Amino acid sequence: MNSTRLLQPPAALQAALGELLGDAQLVAASLPGTHLKLWLIDPANMQRAFNPEETRRILEEPPYWCFCWASGLVLARWLAEQPEWVRGKRVLDFGSGSGVAAIAAAKAGALEVVACDLDPLALAACRANAELNDVQLSYSADFFAEADRFDLIIVADVLYDRANLPLLDQFLSRGQQALVADSRVRDFQHPQYQRIGLLDACTWPDLAEPAEFRLVSLYHASRDGVTAVPTGTNHS
Ligand SMILES: C[S@@+](CC[C@H](N)C(=O)[O-])C[C@H]1O[C@@H](n2cnc3c(N)ncnc32)[C@H](O)[C@@H]1O
Repeated sequence: MNSTRLLQPPAALQAALGELLGDAQLVAASLPGTHLKLWLIDPANMQRAFNPEETRRILEEPPYWCFCWASGLVLARWLAEQPEWVRGKRVLDFGSGSGVAAIAAAKAGALEVVACDLDPLALAACRANAELNDVQLSYSADFFAEADRFDLIIVADVLYDRANLPLLDQFLSRGQQALVADSRVRDFQHPQYQRIGLLDACTWPDLAEPAEFRLVSLYHASRDGVTAVPTGTNHS
């Protein structure tokens, strides 16, 4: 592998970020509590106020892919500590963003991992980050075009938009099981989902979000109704 090339931010992603925030840089950041690196926005770029035009652009097309969201970080740590969740399995990461959970699943020994995101820039980020971490992923822009062939659907911080809640039913239409981590929604009631953990993490780089967003709930659902053994609360 060419280490010099690895230090250069992927040109298309850097250009896309530059269109949003002229001075923003992508850097290869180490994720705390993991062995993973991702191309993420340089935290130095978050230390100034954004002008109204920049704010409008960010809100219109949020560059989710240049952050590792708290739930993605939780799933990455969870899968590294408990690789049996994915080892030898076919896994789809729904709303993959940077690809953090997909890459963690591949590192933990999954047979196949599909990174799925409707944002083409997110899929480009997944490709760049897979290369950075030396893993192979497959890619999908449309979850509903996928066949019902997965052992596990993993989902990190996708329920921020409550319009996505009906997706909880859909995950089990493509996978035998689902593992859903969310820092925004921790009160949903769904007959097939059971909360199996409550873990500390923050979005990276740290957005200094309110404390409530630094607690990630982890839910498990199984098509056959068998629930994973609860592991309780783990503050790391
Ligand atoms: C907050 S980001 C989380 C990214 C990543 N999972 C993490 O934890 O860092 C949410 C991601 O979900 C994607 N997303 C939202 N709705 C989706 C849908 N219906 N199908 C696929 N991806 C979706 C967005 O494009 C975005 O990349």
